[in-house]
Amino acid sequence: MEVLSVERQRYVYIETFGCLMNENDTSRMTGLLKEMAFKVTDSPSAADLIIVNTCSVRDKAEHKLYSVLGRFKEIKQEKPGLIIGVAGCVAQRSGEAIFKRAPYVDIVFGTHNVHRLKELLADSSKASCRVIATGFRSSIDLDEYTHNEAASNGKAFVAVMRGCDNYCSYCIVPYTRGREVSRKSSAILDEIEGLVKSGVKEVTLVGQNVNSYGVNSGADVSFPELLRKATRVEGIRRLRFMTSHPKDISDELIEIFDETPTLCRHLHLPVQSGSDAVLKKMRRGYTAAEYLEKARRIRTRRPDISLTSDVIAGFPGETDADFEATLALIREIRFDNVFAFIYSPRPGTDAASYKEQVPAQVKAARLQRLFEVQREITEARNRALTGSVQSILVEGRSGKSGGFDLFGRTSCGRIVHFLSPDDALVGREVIVTITAAHANSLRGGLIKAVTV
Ligand code: SAH
Ligand code: SF4
Ligand code: F3S
Repeated sequence: MEVLSVERQRYVYIETFGCLMNENDTSRMTGLLKEMAFKVTDSPSAADLIIVNTCSVRDKAEHKLYSVLGRFKEIKQEKPGLIIGVAGCVAQRSGEAIFKRAPYVDIVFGTHNVHRLKELLADSSKASCRVIATGFRSSIDLDEYTHNEAASNGKAFVAVMRGCDNYCSYCIVPYTRGREVSRKSSAILDEIEGLVKSGVKEVTLVGQNVNSYGVNSGADVSFPELLRKATRVEGIRRLRFMTSHPKDISDELIEIFDETPTLCRHLHLPVQSGSDAVLKKMRRGYTAAEYLEKARRIRTRRPDISLTSDVIAGFPGETDADFEATLALIREIRFDNVFAFIYSPRPGTDAASYKEQVPAQVKAARLQRLFEVQREITEARNRALTGSVQSILVEGRSGKSGGFDLFGRTSCGRIVHFLSPDDALVGREVIVTITAAHANSLRGGLIKAVTV
């Protein structure tokens, strides 16, 4: 008797660490896997395929891979058919070493091989053997960055470029993402158009240094021109971009904010340190005075732009005076928010071999002080918004307040919680009045949903 076999639904669970480049890679993996009839699950034990998309920017981030793999190993012991894949920056850097440390991993694929996922999965199941793909490629194929599967909250990340040529002395990224390559503007704009047609409201253009888009290869327009074109895509409500490098930011870029409200009022401009000696050793390509001058120009010209930054505490050789200079710069600019990190030596980078490493307790104490200084500034800046009317894009239901709140972000990137039972607002824009301010978020009262 012939038995008709009905294919069982297969599920994928993806855990994503790291930056927006990894978010974009995960969205592309999701799109490819959906074509293979996988459904996404948020429960690893229900999955037939688990992918960990990894980050190696700091030691702690790299360790997360091995701690989650421990959990997934147990699931695989119960479910031998489970396929475990490791993607992202640790995969790119560590390659075969991941199999040695975690022999139950089936596929290791790096940052330049995301688009080959279908083929890698097929190879793995055909031969029932380990598959590795960690080669670098010097160009971007037009079909490489397709299949971007937007999240249900109306937001999508679109890569404009890959890699970084800056080689800041502390940073692993040029070694995990390779040399800078830009995508053609037509491919980027087509992708945005497709996403907006499928219901996306907010697109974030991502790259490690978006201001050098097209400088070295690939692109046919400048980054400001690309932004201008992207804001004109029919139906797009919000456009963001990340990350800008202070040495490459131009007046033209700042002027585009005048042209359109679609461009969100937020600029992330990582300063890293306020000491010239440290900035030089970091190879950042600007002085503290040059950074201050640019920040002042932005603040004077567009006071509505929220300015955020990244800072590293305890870079090798950083003295108390260097660190005080960083605090002074933070107090002077009064950033809307700062993401601060303890310096983490990354193997293979220049700074990891610098002699004068700062002791761990000193680094931790500096980070703490930095948090305290910035926390006060952030709170004061948030308080200043109380009573204002803001448009927010609703991202989801918040676990806080017993689940009665929805939350979303303002154009300048602040999180706002507001009371609402209406889940249909997720992915839509609403108007709220800001009623209270906290250190990390705002509270609002719903006025109305925006109809377009
Ligand atoms: N391309 C962006 C940043 C990418 S990495 C830029 O140039 O600004 C994100 C942030 O991680 C950096 O801004 C930096 O503050 C931090 N970072 C990078 N390497 C680090 C290291 N080795 N230790 C601690 N923080 C690091
Ligand atoms: Fe790393 Fe510097 Fe490139 Fe940013 S610009 S990704 S910090 S090397
Ligand atoms: Fe991390 Fe790689 Fe991004 S190291 S910060 S995921 S480029």
